[in-house]
Amino acid sequence: MQRILIWDLPTRVFHWTLASCFAVAWFTSEGDRWLAIHVFAGYLMLGLAGFRLAWGFVGSHFSRFSNFWFSPKVALRYVRDVLQRRAERYIGHNPAGSAAIYLLLVMVLALGASGVLALGGDEQHGIAADWFSFDQIQLIKQVHVLLAKVMMLVVVGHVTGVVAESLLHRENLAHSMLHGYKVAPAHTPRARSKASVAFVMLLVMIGFCGWWFAYAVDRQINSQAWHGAPKAETAEAPHVRFVGKVLPDHTLWRKECKVCHTPFYPALLPARSWERVMAGQNEHFEPNNDLEMDPQTVQAVLKFLVDNAADHHFTEAAYKIDRSVPTTETPLRITETPYWIGKHRDISDAVWKSPRVKRKSNCAACHSDADAGTFEDGAMQLPKSEP
Ligand code: HEC
Ligand code: HEC
Repeated sequence: MQRILIWDLPTRVFHWTLASCFAVAWFTSEGDRWLAIHVFAGYLMLGLAGFRLAWGFVGSHFSRFSNFWFSPKVALRYVRDVLQRRAERYIGHNPAGSAAIYLLLVMVLALGASGVLALGGDEQHGIAADWFSFDQIQLIKQVHVLLAKVMMLVVVGHVTGVVAESLLHRENLAHSMLHGYKVAPAHTPRARSKASVAFVMLLVMIGFCGWWFAYAVDRQINSQAWHGAPKAETAEAPHVRFVGKVLPDHTLWRKECKVCHTPFYPALLPARSWERVMAGQNEHFEPNNDLEMDPQTVQAVLKFLVDNAADHHFTEAAYKIDRSVPTTETPLRITETPYWIGKHRDISDAVWKSPRVKRKSNCAACHSDADAGTFEDGAMQLPKSEP
């Protein structure tokens, strides 16, 4: 018996990066706050799975699929043998471990694909932006969450197996996945460490990381740095360029509606609400607040409002606002729609009363893209409360 290199360096780098990415993705999955990190981990997992599929054909002896290609029956029999404490020791992947590897690879691909689709649908980001309606996306998101839970189960099964195996054969399997060595008969084929491939992998990952932070996360950081500047209610919010879609614009609407506040983008209310708002233009939200728009202008502005209203689900917010308002109701205010109320429930009174906010309808105080109408997560920032 000798100490022999079994797991080549790329396989080990793959293994531990994938495990870390899954942990990161798991803990950043709640809410939108860590979405950029979550998506980063997800894309990286997809890339790693792609690498492993190729490595299964060109990697060193024990990393090749041909070395651990067992039938499910053999895998089940192996689990039974482990339970009866009479399983034989494998130098490479044992049949149960192999089953876990294939399952995990399939799960990563399915999770990645459903994640890309959900991101495209919900946030209008990435390659799949615009592929599906918001209704279909809700389903895809549920599938994504379900797959993640199934993958967690497989991970738990895999770890349990590793622990059981390690106890049974008195060898630390997790540790050998770290340094690559196992004690094996002298004739066992040796892996070469393949530092060059591991180096290229690391370079690609670091490059991806750098690109991600420059391109995607930077949008968030930029918009967060923005909160320092006080915003006058009538000032136009700075445009933040997003990878998401650019919404239709209308000069007359902008001109008429930005006089007193950020023009509320049409997608924030259903069409019937806009009809009511415009019908009441001679007493616009406050007594004697007459917009004094002539009928032609009203017609043109109303057409733009209705054509892009929440009913058309152009944005995530539009979809969710539309779904939250009962069809029997016609709210006049965005700030009275159940979705808006739910999203802003946790904001403290002190913030609402701070001089930079003053009123709920001052969307631009906290959403740097209010003017553009996109209301992206990355463009959102609570103003620092005044000392
Ligand atoms: C003369 C000033 C003025 C003009 C011009 C104006 N508004 Fe307003 N708007 C107000 C005031 C004042 C409020 C009440 C703000 C508040 O209570 O927070 C308001 C509130 C609103 C609200 C409700 C916001 C909420 O959810 O609380 C909507 C919707 C709205 N305006 C739409 C429009 C549209 C559409 C136009 C362009 C056709 C427009 N406004 C032009 C003064 C104006
Ligand atoms: C005092 C700051 C503040 C003001 C003013 C404000 N918001 Fe928000 N808004 C937030 C915060 C914080 C969140 C995130 C809540 C969360 O996700 O838990 C949010 C979330 C949202 C979302 C959901 C975004 C998403 O994708 O999750 C929409 C849409 C939105 N706001 C629209 C508006 C509109 C329209 C206005 C003006 C009528 C407005 N907000 C005014 C702070 C504000």
